Amino acid sequence: MKIGVVGLGYIGSVTAGVLAEAGNEVIGVEIDQKRLDAFKSGEPPIYEPGLKELFGNNKSRLVFSSDYKELTDVEVVFLAVPTPTENGKINLDYVFQAAESVKAVNGRAILVIKSTVVPGTAKKINAKMDMIVVSNPEFTKEGTAVDDTRAPDRVVIGGSDQKALSSVERIWAFTKAPVLKTTNENAEMVKYASNSFLATKISFINEIANLCEKIPGCDVETVAKGMGFDKRISPYFLKAGIGYGGSCFPKDTSALQAFSREIGSPVTIVEAAIEVNSERTQRIVDLLKSEFKEPFSGHTVGVFGLTFKGDTDDTRGSQALKLVEALKSVGFKINVYDPMAKITPERTKRYKTKEECADDSDAIVVATDWGEFKTLSVKDKLVIDAKRILDPTKFNKFKAIGLYG
Ligand code: UGA
Repeated sequence: MKIGVVGLGYIGSVTAGVLAEAGNEVIGVEIDQKRLDAFKSGEPPIYEPGLKELFGNNKSRLVFSSDYKELTDVEVVFLAVPTPTENGKINLDYVFQAAESVKAVNGRAILVIKSTVVPGTAKKINAKMDMIVVSNPEFTKEGTAVDDTRAPDRVVIGGSDQKALSSVERIWAFTKAPVLKTTNENAEMVKYASNSFLATKISFINEIANLCEKIPGCDVETVAKGMGFDKRISPYFLKAGIGYGGSCFPKDTSALQAFSREIGSPVTIVEAAIEVNSERTQRIVDLLKSEFKEPFSGHTVGVFGLTFKGDTDDTRGSQALKLVEALKSVGFKINVYDPMAKITPERTKRYKTKEECADDSDAIVVATDWGEFKTLSVKDKLVIDAKRILDPTKFNKFKAIGLYG
């Protein structure tokens, strides 16, 4: 099939690559010229494991362009443009603009909405554009997006045009994943409910971590392990830490909060999850404040990790960056180390190796779960494990989220 993908961010680029690998002819439309040039040159402007190889291996079925006219004769166009929140509310401008641009060159195409949009959006696009609109939310995680897209847990397809639903179902048939065909609104809601549930699960375990810190003999890691054996609970997303970040959970939980309030049915439990999350970084700041004497400007904290999680270069919504800012605001001097982050926070000193960063710091906070941090070796300096990836027995002065003492 000939397929268009509009918006080559993390989701769009992986979707384009995997659909090309599945044998489709794919046209990726990206309006940012710098990003487009990077895709054309074979060096994707984002780091996602396996993406570069995916593009390289499927060159013959992949075209990148900034011109919507390339979509004139495609059957299906996936929209994977950003849906940022502004003051907590979703901004759908990019989705509508992209839909209009597709309509201008090809009104017969099936529009498939990959972007996360509040329930009712697909219907609005359909009414405004008079095009067939199918909702097909994305469930991949950054860092494993290529494999997640090749083999998802499920494929959710929403819409009212049965022929269009079948076309989209055929596109994903190679994944062999269970398919839920439903209304646009249900599909849109599945996405928000899933992300909000996972975010709530994280906030829940973070609250249990707070409790564990006060009870001699308690460790949240072991508690989570014990809970995870129960198939109804499952071991996933029970990792306590400095809170969830990224471009999805913070945005989607607050969009759901605003949306649900607007329709008069607030999702109280999600609001609590948001509040719990907003307090995570302050706990680390308080811990450091209690360990050092004022003025804090006389002490240097080494923050390990700047991205929103390990194995990515993405710093959007990063709790580690929030931590850096909070520590700076009380006066601490900050050293940072991250293997891949593209940005370095202002008024911090960035190091090329974790060893140098550790040597030059009075205390170290592991703020991101990069695998290479596990080999950190430090004696006689306070190490705070905010992601629970270190072995406590290897350190003399050690504190960790969810661990008593
Ligand atoms: C998330 C969802 O997991 C995907 O299913 C979804 O498709 C995606 O959002 C999206 O909406 O596009 P992602 O943001 O890439 O994926 O990353 P996650 O692995 O879910 O991590 C999100 C945040 O939660 C990170 O800051 C991570 O460190 C944190 N986290 C995750 C925890 O603190 N504890 C956990 O147990 C798991």
